[in-house]
Amino acid sequence: MSMQKTDENRVKIFDTTLRDGEQSPGFSMNHEEKLRMASMLEELGVDIIEAGFPIASQGDFESVRAIAKQASDTVAIAGLCRASTKDIDRAWEALQYAPKARIHTFISTSPVHMKYKLRMEPEAVLEAIHNSVSHAASLTNDVEWSPEDGTRTEPDFLVKSITTAVKAGATTINVPDTVGYLVADEYAELIRMLLNSVPGLDKCTISTHCHNDLGVAVANSLGGVSAGARQIECTINGIGERAGNASLEEVAMALQVRGDRLPYWTNIDSTKLLRASQMLQSITGFSVQPNKAIVGANAFAHESGIHQDGMLKNAQTYEIMTPESVGWTKTNLVLGKHSGRAAFRDKLVQLGYEDIGENAFQDAFVRFKDLADHKKEVTDEDIVALVDDSASDQAASFTLDDLKIHSIVHGVARVDVTVSVEGKAQTVTTEGNGAVDAIFKGIKDVTGLQDQKLDLYQVHAVTGGTDAQAKVTVRLSQEGRTVSGTGADYDTLFASARAYIHALNKLQSSERRVHAHRGGEGEAA
Ligand code: KIV
Ligand code: ZN
Repeated sequence: MSMQKTDENRVKIFDTTLRDGEQSPGFSMNHEEKLRMASMLEELGVDIIEAGFPIASQGDFESVRAIAKQASDTVAIAGLCRASTKDIDRAWEALQYAPKARIHTFISTSPVHMKYKLRMEPEAVLEAIHNSVSHAASLTNDVEWSPEDGTRTEPDFLVKSITTAVKAGATTINVPDTVGYLVADEYAELIRMLLNSVPGLDKCTISTHCHNDLGVAVANSLGGVSAGARQIECTINGIGERAGNASLEEVAMALQVRGDRLPYWTNIDSTKLLRASQMLQSITGFSVQPNKAIVGANAFAHESGIHQDGMLKNAQTYEIMTPESVGWTKTNLVLGKHSGRAAFRDKLVQLGYEDIGENAFQDAFVRFKDLADHKKEVTDEDIVALVDDSASDQAASFTLDDLKIHSIVHGVARVDVTVSVEGKAQTVTTEGNGAVDAIFKGIKDVTGLQDQKLDLYQVHAVTGGTDAQAKVTVRLSQEGRTVSGTGADYDTLFASARAYIHALNKLQSSERRVHAHRGGEGEAA
C-alpha cells in the first residue's frame, strides 16, 4: 500500500553542507564552488539550504548573498547567526535577496557551554534568546532557533529556553545534538518531552541536527522524526564538524525505502544523490569510503559467488533499492575521438551538467578531445572527472598552461612550468627530487606563494587500466587554514600540477573567519 503524502507526514530537508560541512578543516570551498554546490542542492530538491555564516568573513557574506540571489522560490536560503543584533543584521543583509529567506540564530544552553564558553548566567542566556529571536522575527517571518548543545542541557532549562524562543517568534525549533552524544530512543524521547512541555511548539516545525560522534546521527534523526520532528538537518556525504552530521543521502533513502516503518516523505529526487555526492567529493578532494551507504563505490557491488549467483537470478535477493534509484548507471563506453560538440553536450546533460557555463564547456570539450586521443575508452566517470576539473578552473587567479620535463637523472628532475597569473603566462625552470617536487617548486616560484605546508598528496585512478585518468588531491595548510585541491588528467604530472594550483587558488581566496562554535555569542545580544 503506498503512503499518502500529506502535509503532516512531509519531512523538510535542511542541508547544511555549505555551513556545518564547510566549516570543518580542509572542506572549505571557494565562491564559485559554493554557488555550484547550491545549484546542485536546489536541483536535488532540498527545502532549505544553509548557505553559510555571513558574519564569519567577507567571503562568507558574499557567497550567502550570491546564493540568495541565484535561488528560486522552491528553496529557502538560511544564514547562521549568533545571538547578536550585529550577526543577525549582517545575515539579513545577505539573505534579503532570496525569494524565501530564513534567519537561523543560536546560543548555547548547556551548563558546560554557558559556564565555560559563554561565561553567562542562565538568566542572561534567556534574555539573549528573547532579544535575538525577536529581532530576527522583526526582519522575516521564517526564523529558526537552536539551543547549541541542546541534548546536554538541563531538561527544565531547555523547556524554558525553547518556550522563550517560541514566544519571541521562532517558527522552527532545532534540537542540536552538538556533540553527538545521544542514542536513537533517547533523542526521540527528548523530542516527545519537548512537544509535551513547550506551549505552542506544535505550531512550529521541530528540527533534528545530529552529529555523528557515535556513528548514530542518521538513526537519531530518524528517531526524532518518528517522535514528531518534521525537519532534518543533514549534509551531503555526512560532512561536518568532527565526525560529521547526519548524511543526507542516507536519511533520504531510509525514508524512501522504508515507508512501511517510516511513513514520511521528502522532496528529494533520489536519482540526483550520487551526482551531488560526487560533485562534493570533487570540490573538496575528500572521497567517501568505498563501503559508504548509497554513494560509496561498493554500495551496490556484489563480490562473493553466492551473492552474484543470487543477483543474476533476481536482484531483490541482495538489493533493497536499485542502483539507478540513487543515480548509479551502468558504466557506459561513451564518446570517442570522433564525437562532436553536440554529442558531448548531450552527454553532459545526461550526467546532470545542464548548467555548465560556456567557458567551462569549451574547456572541457578541448580536454575531452585530448583525452579521447590518448585513452581507448572514455567513460562517464572520465567525463565527470574532467568536467568537474574544468569547472574548478573558471575565474581562478592561477591556471596551468604547460609543463615540460627536460630530464630525470638519478631522481633529480628538471622541468619547465608555465602558469598564468591573472591571465599573464610566466615560465620558470626548476629542479626537484622527482618530477612532482620540481613541478610544485616551479608553481610556488611563479605564484610567489611559498609558505604553505603540503599535508597530503594522493593519486587515484578514475577508472581501471594503465591508460586511466589520474585524479590527484593536494591538501595545503597555512596559518590555521586548510584547503584541498583536485586535478584530473591522463598524465599524472599534469593532474598533480592542476591539483596544486587549485589548492593555491583556494588558499589565496580563503580568509580568517569567526568560528560559530568558539564563544562570543554574548556580545551585543
Ligand atoms: O551542532 C550545532 O549545535 C550547530 C548549531 C549551530 C545548530 O551546528
Ligand atoms: Zn552542527
